[in-house]
Amino acid sequence: MSELLDTQAMEILQKNDRGGYTVPTARLYPYQWNWDSAFVALGFGTFDRERAWTELELLLEGQWQNGMVPSILFRHDDPDYFPGPSVWQTQSMHTPQPPMPSTGVSQPPILACVMRQLVDSGDNTDLQHASQLFEQTFNWHKWYQTQRSVNGVVCTVHPWETGRDNCPDWELGLDSMAVDSELEPYQRMDIKHANPEQRPSKEQYDKFISIVKFGREQQWNQRVLTDDGPFLMADPGIHFILLRANKDLLAIARRLKLTDAIAELETMIDAGERATDYFWNESLGAFTARNIKTGEFSNGLSNASVLCFFAGSGSKQQQQLTIEHLQRIQRQVRFLMPSWDPAADMFDAQRYWCGPVWPQMNYLVSMGLEEQGYDVLAKAIRGDMTALIRQSGFYECFNPVTGDGCLGTDFSWTAAIWLAWASPNRQRLAA
Ligand code: GLC
Repeated sequence: MSELLDTQAMEILQKNDRGGYTVPTARLYPYQWNWDSAFVALGFGTFDRERAWTELELLLEGQWQNGMVPSILFRHDDPDYFPGPSVWQTQSMHTPQPPMPSTGVSQPPILACVMRQLVDSGDNTDLQHASQLFEQTFNWHKWYQTQRSVNGVVCTVHPWETGRDNCPDWELGLDSMAVDSELEPYQRMDIKHANPEQRPSKEQYDKFISIVKFGREQQWNQRVLTDDGPFLMADPGIHFILLRANKDLLAIARRLKLTDAIAELETMIDAGERATDYFWNESLGAFTARNIKTGEFSNGLSNASVLCFFAGSGSKQQQQLTIEHLQRIQRQVRFLMPSWDPAADMFDAQRYWCGPVWPQMNYLVSMGLEEQGYDVLAKAIRGDMTALIRQSGFYECFNPVTGDGCLGTDFSWTAAIWLAWASPNRQRLAA
């Protein structure tokens, strides 16, 4: 059965390949998505190294001059997707003009982590590829410092920038903003291609589009978007991923003997470690999202909270308390790791980021736990991922209680994570 699934996974990646870049799934997501592409490269990396690097090179083709790598690259205009290039208008609004139509926000910077996996499991050719992409990747990391940080804490201006688009974490920031009173009427496409019950509500969507309107009106000036935008939160997901990505980039810089970059990255990592405490929610005993404008903490633990292990950050005590949450949640659901705490308000086993298990998150969480010596939980999370895919197939995400697949089918990152990690026939690439 595993061999059959291995073959299917490869076929999914090939089927979703649009000539050097891969769409997450046909119809629902018809463009190149930032962190999806990085995970996809891990999958290709198990059977076609050159194709893996091409995916990453094409992602960086969309990088803005200020360093930002957008969340979606619109290489063509697909009328079946909303909000597409005519809504974002980044090319006509922003100076200097971005290299291609794209969104005006980013997504979790997992790229450097993937590059390191490919380098560590590869040969000199992989190192050469990494060397070619090094500076661009480094510039993206610096963009977080110069354009997306407030008092040393990296933040986010749009739930879509976190990759955890509809997590209850964002309610805090969304509640404190209003829908733009001049919002033009629009037609959603997501609810045409996916079950509306599993997608965001109309009010949430109006707010998502209001933030886009603000960005457009500010010509996508990223500093203005951060300082004066309607939404500003700190996301443990982006924080921990960026911290880990800086560490992975440092490892690559050492291999390449880039003395200046090594020193600069060490400073960035120190600053990142200092910011970790900002996310510590004392009353919950976990790292959670926070509304930067008010300092208020989100009241639930998410799968991003447990990325502290992946970042190798937080005190022993903070990590121990996080482990206890994981053990409790393991008793509450059949499959780890739900995207939202089943004990928290708004848990919904089938709704987008309010409960479902996400393959790419399980991969990161498990890798972190393994590295920090929590082998039993690391194995349980991997085992659950294997079981979910065996039970339901290559869905976008899965119900943690029943194991049913949710939302998109034949999903690229699920296929990639299977190949690189969840398939019993593979060891993790870096193993
Ligand atoms: C959804 C997810 C996001 C992902 C995108 C494409 O918007 O929330 O994380 O990148 O789909 O798969």
